Amino acid sequence: MKKTYAVLALTAVSFAAAALVWQSRTQNREDEIKEIRIGIALYRGNDPFINSLRSRLEDKAKEYEQATGIRVVLDTADPKGNQNTQNSQVERFLSLGCDALCVNMVDRSAASYVINKAMDADAPVIFFNREPVEEDMKRWERLYYVGENARESAVLQGGILVSAWREDPRSLDLNGDGRVSYVLLEGESSHQDSLIRTEWSVQTLKDGGVPIERLTGGIANWDRSQASALMGQWLEEFPGEIELVICNNDEMALGAADALERAEEDRPVRIVGIDGTPQGLEGVKKGKLFGTVRCDIGEYAEVIFAIAAAEALGQDVHGQVELMNGIYYECGQEAVTAEDLK
Ligand code: GAL
Repeated sequence: MKKTYAVLALTAVSFAAAALVWQSRTQNREDEIKEIRIGIALYRGNDPFINSLRSRLEDKAKEYEQATGIRVVLDTADPKGNQNTQNSQVERFLSLGCDALCVNMVDRSAASYVINKAMDADAPVIFFNREPVEEDMKRWERLYYVGENARESAVLQGGILVSAWREDPRSLDLNGDGRVSYVLLEGESSHQDSLIRTEWSVQTLKDGGVPIERLTGGIANWDRSQASALMGQWLEEFPGEIELVICNNDEMALGAADALERAEEDRPVRIVGIDGTPQGLEGVKKGKLFGTVRCDIGEYAEVIFAIAAAEALGQDVHGQVELMNGIYYECGQEAVTAEDLK
């Protein structure tokens, strides 16, 4: 929370500073900045988490326009999961004269192409959500990354289950055999968050003394219908055995819930997700999901936008947002159960 306020305060300062810059520049007509142009390259527009972030970014742009009088042109592109398409979209943004790019890489290991083009055009890049490799991030001082700490998400997710176990072991060990039999739904194998979330959710359960037993697991690429299909198979493969479903995100958690509904499963199998998307939180409220980890999406959008706008106006980013190693920003997150949403 403290971090959020710091960012808000800094952003307020940045808006005020931008207003001043604008004011002084309007006095000098030759150097007038009336408009900034920001390109937002998504990896896939139909990803619900990315979609809520996109709409928050649009809100931030409007707030900024109102606070500063500077018009913000946001160009958004959806390459539908294709890296070549994204590369062309980035080139188009640059040819349109974007002052800053916000890039959610399709393939996080392919950032060097985007970086080369941006460096040639002298346009800064704020990568988000899909983290380029460190080597790429160090190539230029006008590259940034905004995301979440994957280990923190997972420790918070595991913590929800450890608390439930301590309160009532039978809420997780449904058949009372002394073990919690779980299945695990993972995001894309190439995504930095999948591996780390999986590892630390399980580790947190072990550290918390929950006797877990893995039945099976699989990759459902963050996707609700892929998760639902996998979970459907597992319910047939392990009839009456699955007691817990650990999911790397809310969409897959909702997919698992769909499969349980389809199978007319009447045991209270627990499902946990990560993201706290509107759909995920609704699932928690309705009792379909046992819990999730809500990312502070407002802070996420605020920081991406603050860096992009400061860069576009040639201001000192580091004086406005506190960045780790001058490059990275990790957004806040919190564990959420139905109890918290009452
Ligand atoms: C993760 C998020 C997923 C998905 C993915 C896309 O951080 O939890 O739901 O949006 O990013 O890169």
